[in-house]
Amino acid sequence: MIQPTLDAPTLDAPTLAGKHVLLGLSGGIACYKTAELTRLLVKAGATVQVVMTAAAEQFITAVTMQALSSRPVVTSQWDAREPNNMAHINLSRAADVMLVAPASADFIAKLVQGRADDLLSLTALARPTQTCPLLVAPAMNREMWAHPATQRNVAQLLADGAHLLGPGNGSQACGETGDGRMLEASELLEELIAFFQPKWLAGHKVLVTAGPTFEPIDPVRGITNHSSGKMGFAIARAAREAGAEVTLVAGPVHLTTPRGVRRIDVQTAQQMFDAVLPLAPAHAVFVATAAVADWRPAQVLEHKIKKDHKPGASTAPPMISMTENPDILAAVAALSPGPYCVGFAAESRDLLKHAREKLLRKKIPLIAANLGPATFGRDDNTLLLVDAHSERELPTNDKLSLARELIREIASRL
Ligand code: C5P
Repeated sequence: MIQPTLDAPTLDAPTLAGKHVLLGLSGGIACYKTAELTRLLVKAGATVQVVMTAAAEQFITAVTMQALSSRPVVTSQWDAREPNNMAHINLSRAADVMLVAPASADFIAKLVQGRADDLLSLTALARPTQTCPLLVAPAMNREMWAHPATQRNVAQLLADGAHLLGPGNGSQACGETGDGRMLEASELLEELIAFFQPKWLAGHKVLVTAGPTFEPIDPVRGITNHSSGKMGFAIARAAREAGAEVTLVAGPVHLTTPRGVRRIDVQTAQQMFDAVLPLAPAHAVFVATAAVADWRPAQVLEHKIKKDHKPGASTAPPMISMTENPDILAAVAALSPGPYCVGFAAESRDLLKHAREKLLRKKIPLIAANLGPATFGRDDNTLLLVDAHSERELPTNDKLSLARELIREIASRL
C-alpha cells in the first residue's frame, strides 16, 4: 500500500534551511571559490559561520567573507568578543557540520595529528564528532596531493571519520594540470546537500534510464520523443544522495551528470537496451524514466534522402517503413532474479487508466504517471504513483524534490 507522505517539501524549499555550517578556510588560492560557495550556501538557506586561518587571510579578506555570510568572521582563539573566551567550543557546538574548504596539505596534516595551535584546527579537535561531522575539500598542487605524506594523511583522516569532497582534476593556478583542484562552489554545494539527505538506499545499486532516444532515418534526420531528461537525472541524483551506487543510461540530452553518478550515453532504443540488460541483474532497483521511441525506421539510409527538383518529378513524400523497438522495461521486469522495477507513464489524458494498464502489461510493481505536455522541459512536475492496489498523488513540486520522495517510496518497498 502507498502511505501518505508526512513531510512533503514545498516548491522551491531552501534545501539547507535550518542548517548551521561552520565554514573553515585554510591558506590556498581556492579561497576565491569559497567566497562563491558562501553565497550559494546562504541562498540555500544555511547559516554560515566563517573561520579563517592566518594563511587564508593572505588570499581573501575577512571583510569579504563577513559581507557574504552576514556574520562576523572569527580568526583567533583569543577573540575577546566571546563572553566565555572559548570560541572553539561555542563554534563547534552550534554547527551541524564543519566544512574546511580549501583544506591545504598543511592543514590536513594538522588535522591528522590533532594539533590545535590556531582557531580552525583547535575547533576541529574540540568538535563533538557525532553532532558536527567534518567535511574536507582539499586544494593543492598535484605533486603535493600525490605525495605519499599527503596520501597517508588523507587515508588517516578518512579512518578518523572525516568525509572527503574531491579533489577535482584539471588545470591548476600554478600552471600544472592534474589532481588537487578544489571542487567548484556549485559542486561543493551539491555534495553538502547530498550529505544531509537520509541514506534510504545505502549499500544498494540503482540503474536509471533518462531522456529520449533518437532513431535515425538517414545521416541528417531521425525520429525522437519529447523529453528533457530532467526527471531521470533528478532521480539519479536523489538515489545517489540516498547513498546508492547509481548508473544512469542517458539518451541524447544536454544535462550535467549528477555528482557521483556513472553515466553511459546512448542514442537509440536498441543501444539503451544493449546497455541496460547486462547491467540490470546486478542492481536492486531499475527506474525507467526514458521516453523510448516505440518504433524505428526499418532501415537507416547511408545518404540523405533528397527531394527530386526535376520538372515533373513526383512530389510524393518518401515512405518510411518502421519496425518495433524492444521494450527495455518489460525485458528487465522479466529477469529472474531482477531488480525492483519502476516505470514512468507520460500521458495526455486518463492518467490512472493508462498507468494501471501499463503496470499489468509490463508486469511491474510501481509506476509514476505524469501528464506529458504539462511537464516536458519544465523544472516542476506532478506525479501519480500507482501500484496494484492504490494510487497516491505527489503534488506539484520541483523535480528533485519529487525524485527524493519517489526514492523514499521505493526504499520502503525493498
Ligand atoms: O510502453 P510505454 O512507452 O507507454 O511505457 C513507458 C514506460 O516503459 C517508461 O518507463 C519507459 O521508460 C519504458 N519503456 C521502455 N522501453 C520501451 C518503451 C518504454 O523501457 N521500448
